[in-house]
Amino acid sequence: MEPPLIHVRRMHFDLEEVPRYWHSGSPFLTHYFTAMSLLFPPGEKFFIDSVRNFEGQISDPILREQVKDFSGQEAQHSHHHRVYDRKMTREGTPVQRYEGWIEWALQLARRWTPKKLQLAVTITLEHFTAVFANVLLSEPKFSEGMDPNVRLLWLWHAVEETEHKAVAYDVYQQVSGSYWLRALVMVRILLGFPFAIGFFHLLLLAGDRKLGNLRDVARGMRFVWGKGGFARSATPELLGFFRRDFHPWQNDNRELIGEWMAQYGDRSAG
Ligand SMILES: [Fe+2]
Ligand SMILES: [Fe+2]
Repeated sequence: MEPPLIHVRRMHFDLEEVPRYWHSGSPFLTHYFTAMSLLFPPGEKFFIDSVRNFEGQISDPILREQVKDFSGQEAQHSHHHRVYDRKMTREGTPVQRYEGWIEWALQLARRWTPKKLQLAVTITLEHFTAVFANVLLSEPKFSEGMDPNVRLLWLWHAVEETEHKAVAYDVYQQVSGSYWLRALVMVRILLGFPFAIGFFHLLLLAGDRKLGNLRDVARGMRFVWGKGGFARSATPELLGFFRRDFHPWQNDNRELIGEWMAQYGDRSAG
C-alpha cells in the first residue's frame, strides 16, 4: 500500500495561559502527560540521529525523501514539547532538569552502543508512539478533558506520528532487518519504558506534593490502567510488534489523519 504523505507542519500553540492542571483539573493526569513530554526533546533527537546514521545506505529515493520529512516532523515536535517543558519549569516543576537526565543517558547510548542497536531502539519506541497516537486519536475520551491549546499540541503530534510511523522501520528493514534484535529490544523496552514513565511521573507528583491526593491518584490510575484505559487499550497493538511479518501499516488508520485535517488542518501554516 502507498503510505500517506508526510507533512512538516509549522504550528503555533498558545501555551502561556494554559491552567496549571490542564488535563481535567487533575495533577495526576497533567503530570502523566508531562512525564511523556519531557522524554520527547532528547528522545526525538536520538530518533533522528539513529535513522540518519544510515542515510548513505538507503537506496530507495522515496524512502530517502521520507527520512527528510520524518526528521523535519520530529524536530518540530521536539521544539514544541521543549516550549511546553520550559513553561512547566518556569511554574516550578523541574521538567528541564529531568529532560537533561534523559539527554545524558542517550549521549552514553550514542557513544557506547552499536548503531544498528540504536536504530532498533528507535523503531521500537516509534512503534510505542504510533500506538499511543492511534489510541489518542481514535478515543476522544482520553483528550476531551485537556485544555484546548494543549489538546491541539498532542493531537497534532499524534497525527504526524501516524504519518511517519513506518519510516524508521522501513530503514531498519533495508539496513538490518534482524527479527531477533528488534524482538529482544522490544522485550527490554516493554520491561523498562513503563517504569521510566512511572519514575518521572512519581517525581513530578511528589515534587508538586500531590501524591497524597488519593482520589485524584485513584481516578488517574483508572484512566491509565483501568478497563478500557489509556495504556491497556494500547497493549494488544503494542504486542503485534512481535509478529515476524509485522509492519506498522498493517494497521491502516490513515482515516484518523483525514479526520484531524478536516477539523484542525487550517491551524497549520506548512
Ligand atoms: Fe514525534
Ligand atoms: Fe516519531
